[in-house]
Parts: sequence; structure tokens; C-alpha cells
Amino acid sequence: MTNYIIVTGTSRGLGEAIVMNLLQKGNHLFCISRTKNEKLVQAAKEKNIPLEYFEHDLSDPKKTEELFEKIFKSIDFENASAISLFNNAGVLQPISPIDKYKTADVTTNIHVNLIAPILSTSIFIKHTKDLDIEKRIINISSGAAKNAYYGWSAYCASKAGVNIFSRSVALEQAQRKYPVTIFSFAPGVIDTEMQREIRKSNKDDFVDLQRFIEFKENGVLMSPDFVAKKVITLLTSDQYNNGEFIDIDNME
Ligand SMILES: NC(=O)c1ccc[n+]([C@@H]2O[C@H](COP(=O)([O-])OP(=O)(O)OC[C@H]3O[C@@H](n4cnc5c(N)ncnc54)[C@H](OP(=O)(O)O)[C@@H]3O)[C@@H](O)[C@H]2O)c1
Repeated sequence: MTNYIIVTGTSRGLGEAIVMNLLQKGNHLFCISRTKNEKLVQAAKEKNIPLEYFEHDLSDPKKTEELFEKIFKSIDFENASAISLFNNAGVLQPISPIDKYKTADVTTNIHVNLIAPILSTSIFIKHTKDLDIEKRIINISSGAAKNAYYGWSAYCASKAGVNIFSRSVALEQAQRKYPVTIFSFAPGVIDTEMQREIRKSNKDDFVDLQRFIEFKENGVLMSPDFVAKKVITLLTSDQYNNGEFIDIDNME
């Protein structure tokens, strides 16, 4: 039997660490990002774990729908013990007050952070609704879903959207015979490219800049591997209610 796991945003950061930790016997990985992560491909080869890599731009909804349809059509449901999806890919840009926003940056943000998870969840549930197996979707959210940040309004809105989307889907699943479990997860501050991008931003555009510079200087940022190990526990944990927003700070 096989655990099928789809992870988006696997070229670096948290997504890469999630997949690295899931390269275990019995798992079959599908990885998605615009850039192929050769390190993951090589590691999977060495461990003899099936891993399929899709170089794909999640800001294109039509092609994203086609990709997820293709992935789900390729899954051997008869042989599946569990199917899971981490909607992890994310973009922070645009970082600036709203009056400086460029339309293209806003649409990319909402497409990658919110529309792609909505589409992938829809296709996941459509294909798996009659399967009596473990089915989980983990949407990577952020503390910015709950706290407003000066200069991050699109990002905050997209992540707040992910939270209420997850709760709404869980409400629907409560009526289903074989429900999918769906969570949104705030991973805390992680030492990734996204944090480097924040530190490179301009103080006039992001007034909390100094606080984030100090996170790095004071060693507050968590490693992607540490956070990946935490979020992976959500694939099997029965501690949380369906649809719940789980903050890493409140996990044991
Ligand atoms: N780092 C933090 O402190 C922090 C805090 C709270 C929440 N988060 C959330 O955690 C998740 C992972 O963040 P991270 O820190 O690992 O970020 P990261 O290092 O910037 O990595 C982002 C990943 O998303 C992928 N991605 C971006 N745009 C994409 C697109 N158009 N199509 C496909 N893939 C795309 C990137 O791959 P390509 O560029 O190769 O496409 C990359 O693999 C995100 O959802 C983020 O919002 C992070």
C-alpha cells in the first residue's frame, strides 16, 4: 500500500524540508514548483522512493487545474493507504502600502496563496470523496492571517482567506461519508528565502523591518527542518478539529 503525498513550493525552504522528511518507504511524492529541486530528486533516487517533479507556475489557474487533474488521474486509488496535500507554495510580494501596489503582483499573490489551494482542494475532494482512507489537506497559512501588518495587506488577506476557506470546507466535509481532514497551519518565523526577502524590504514600505532583522540576529528564526517535522505530525494527529487553524506556537 502507498501513501500519496503532494507538496507545493518544494524548490526551497519549508516545502523542501517537508519532502526531505517524507522520503520514507511507502510514500510516493509529487512535488510542484517553478524550479526543479535536483537535491530532492537525487535524494529520492538514492533512497529508492518514488518522486515525481512538476515544474509548474501555480499563478496560472487553468494550468494548475490541469496539473492537479493529471496528478489525481495517475494515483492508483486501489493501492492507496492515504492521500495528503500540503499547499505550501507562497509569495509575500507585494510589500508596500496599498497605494503603491501593482496589479500583476497582487494577482500573482492571490493566485499562488489562495486560488491554487482552493483549486487543488476542489480537485482532491472530487477525486477522493468515495475513498474510505486517510485523506488530509494542510494549508500553510501564517500569523499574518490573524495579525495585520503594515505593507503586507495582500499577503494578510490571502492567508486569512486560506483560514476561512479551510474552515468552510471542513464544515462541508462534516456531512460526508468519508470526510477529508483539512487544517490551516501557521509555521512561525522560519529561516528561509522569504525571511531574506523581508529583511531586504524598505522601511517605508514595511514599518516592522527592524523587528524582522532582529529575529535573524537574535537567532529567533526556526529551521525549515524543525518546522517540517512539526507540520508532518498533522498527517496523523487526532488532536485537532477539522478545519482548525493550528499555530506552531501552540503545538506540544
Ligand atoms: N518563512 C517564514 O517565516 C514564513 C512565515 C509564515 C508563513 N510562511 C509560509 O510558509 C510557506 C513556505 O514559505 P517559505 O518560507 O519556505 O518560502 P520560500 O523560501 O520563499 O519558498 C517558497 C516556495 O514557493 C514556491 N513558489 C512561489 N511562487 C510560486 C509559483 N508561482 N508557482 C509555483 N511555486 C511557487 C517557490 O518555488 P519557485 O520559486 O521555484 O516556484 C518556493 O519553493 C509559504 O506559504 C509562506 O507564506 C513562511
